[in-house]
Amino acid sequence: MNCCSFFLDTLLEMKNGNFMVDPSSTVGGGVVDVYGEDCATQHQFLTPWTVSVASGYTLLRDPRHNKGLAFTEPERDSHYLRGLLPPALSTQGLQEKKLLQNIRSYEVPLHKYVAMMELQERNERLFYKLLIDNVEELLPIVYTPTVGEACQKYGCIFKRPQGLYISLKEKGKILEVLKNWPERSIQVIVVTDGERILGLGDLGCQGMGIPVGKLALYTALGGVRPSACLPITIDVGTNNQKLLDDEFYIGLRQKRATGKEYYDLLEEFMSAVKQNYGEKVLVQFEDFANHNAFELLARYKTRHLVFNDDIQGTAAVVLAGLVASLKLLGGSLADHTFLFFGAGEAGTGIAELIALEISTKTNIPVEEARKKIWLVDSKGLIVSSRKDSLQHFKKPWAHEHEPLSTLLDAVRAMKPSVLIGTSGVGQTFTKDVVEAMAAINHRPLIMALSNPTAQAECTAEQAYTWTEGRAIFSSGSPFDPYEYNGKSFVPGQANNAYIFPGLGFGLVISGAIRVHDEMLLAASEALANQVTQEHYDKGMIYPPLTNIRKISAHIAANVAAKAYELGLATRLPRPANLVQYTESCMYTPNYRSYR
Ligand code: NAI
Repeated sequence: MNCCSFFLDTLLEMKNGNFMVDPSSTVGGGVVDVYGEDCATQHQFLTPWTVSVASGYTLLRDPRHNKGLAFTEPERDSHYLRGLLPPALSTQGLQEKKLLQNIRSYEVPLHKYVAMMELQERNERLFYKLLIDNVEELLPIVYTPTVGEACQKYGCIFKRPQGLYISLKEKGKILEVLKNWPERSIQVIVVTDGERILGLGDLGCQGMGIPVGKLALYTALGGVRPSACLPITIDVGTNNQKLLDDEFYIGLRQKRATGKEYYDLLEEFMSAVKQNYGEKVLVQFEDFANHNAFELLARYKTRHLVFNDDIQGTAAVVLAGLVASLKLLGGSLADHTFLFFGAGEAGTGIAELIALEISTKTNIPVEEARKKIWLVDSKGLIVSSRKDSLQHFKKPWAHEHEPLSTLLDAVRAMKPSVLIGTSGVGQTFTKDVVEAMAAINHRPLIMALSNPTAQAECTAEQAYTWTEGRAIFSSGSPFDPYEYNGKSFVPGQANNAYIFPGLGFGLVISGAIRVHDEMLLAASEALANQVTQEHYDKGMIYPPLTNIRKISAHIAANVAAKAYELGLATRLPRPANLVQYTESCMYTPNYRSYR
C-alpha cells in the first residue's frame, strides 16, 4: 500500500469511527497519523513528503525528514542529494554518539540547551532519539532548571519561532492565526501567558521556552507525534519592568492586560482552538499565575479538554508518591494526617486530590476527607476564623481550630505524619520542624517540593540527618543520594514529567473529550504501581526516570481505561489490551527508509 492510499484508507476508517492501529504493529504509530508515516512498520518504505521533493536541498532543510549523513546511497540518488552531502555515510547511532560528545563538551547548561534546540530544528528524529536514550541527563537541559534560564534570555537566543505567539494585537483574528501554523492535525497544545514561569515570576512573551520544552517531553516521554504538538504563548504584556526596558525583549511593551480584556482574549482563543482542531484537542495550561490558573481551569474544564499541570499534574505526581510510600509507612491514606506549608496552586491542588482519593477509597464525603488535611500559608494555619479573608481556593481548608502563626506550632498541634512544602520559600523546614516531625513519627514523610533547588524547604541531607535516617524524603528539584550511618538513601523527585506525558497520551489515544478527576487518580495509581521492592529498599517512592516510556505507557493505558469507563472516550471500539495498544501508538524516533 502506498502512502496516499494508506492516508485515504485511514481517513475513511476514521470517518467510520473504527480507526485502530494493528495491535501486532511493533513500531511507533501515532494516533490519527494523517501521513500514514508512523503507522507503517519500520521495514516499510515511505515517501518523505515535504513542500517539494524536487530538490534534495529542501529535504536537508526539513527537520522532520532530514537524516544528515545517515541518508543511504540509494536515498542520495533518488532524492537529488548527490554533492549536497560529503561522501561519508553515518548511522543514527553514530550521529547520536557524536552529538552527545558535543553536548557534554559544553560547560554552560544554557549552551547545551541552545545546542539541543538547534538539533530539534535541524533533525527532529535525532533530537528525540538523543533525548529518549539519555533522558536523565538531558531532561534538566530541555526542561527545568535550564529552560528557566533560557526563558530569561529568550530575547537574545531567539532565532526562529518554535510555536505560535498570540498577542493582544491578534484580538479578533485568533482563528486566522491558528491557521498560519503549518500542521493541521494537532492533538496537544501547551499554552502559557508567561506570568509565573517556574519560580522565576513574570517573563512575559519569553515564557515560550516552557510550552516548547513541555511538548518535547510529550513526545520523548509520552509518545505524542511531534507534528501533533503545538506550543502557544499568549502575550497580554508583562509587569516585569526589566523586560519592558530591555531592547531585545520580544513581546508586547505594555503592562499586563487584566480583567475583561484578558478573559475576552482567552475566551476567543479557546473557541478558536475548538473550531480549528475540534473537541478532542488537549489544551494544557502552563505557568499561569494562580489568580488566573484556578479561574481558567474552572471556566473551561466542563466545556473543553483542558488540564493544568501546575495544579493537577503536581497533584497526581505527589499523590502517586504518597500511595507508594504507604508500603513503607503502613496504613491507608485515610489513616494519615497531612500538613502543607504553602497553599497556592500546587498545595491546594495536591490537597484536593488526596481528599478525593480518600473519599473514593473509603466512601466518605470529600468534605469529611478534607478534615485530615491542614494547610499553612504566609499568614499561618488556615482556620475557619480566617474564612472571610481567604482566596476562594483556600476556603475548603478552613477547618475549626484556634489560629496558629508558625509552622512549628502547626506541626506540634496537628501531629501530621506527612509534611509537604509548596511555599516557594527555601529553608523553612528548619531543624526544629523536622525534629518535631521525627518525634511524632517513626518514619516521617517529608516532601520539600519548592523549586528550584535553593527554594527547597530543606535538603535531603538535612531531612536524613535531623531524623537520624528515619525520614522518607522527596523533593521537587533533584538531590543526590545521601549516605547516613553507612546506609545510602536515594531521595525521590516528584517530577511532573512522570505524569503529564502519559496522562496526555491516554487522553489522546482514547479520544477523550473531558479530563475527569478520576483520570488523575488513575494516573497516580499507575505511577505508584511502578515502584518495586528494589526501589523501596533504597528509600525511593518514585521509579527511576530511565524507564519513563514504559511508565508513561502504563499511565496512558490506565487513564484511557478510565475514560472508557466514564463514557468520555470517543475512539471506539475500546482496544482489548490497552497497554499493548498504547505502546503501538507511541512515536518512535528511529530513522525511516525513503523510497
Ligand atoms: P503559588 O504562588 O500558587 O503558591 C505559593 C503559596 O505559598 C501561597 O499560598 C503563599 O501564600 C504561600 N507562601 C508564600 N510565602 C510563604 C511563607 N513565607 N510562609 C508560608 N507560606 C507562604 O505557587 P505554586 O504554583 O503553588 O508553587 C509553589 C512551589 O511549589 C514553587 O516553588 C514551585 O516550584 C513548586 N512546585 C513543585 C512541583 C513539583 O515538585 N512537582 C510542581 C509545582 C510547583
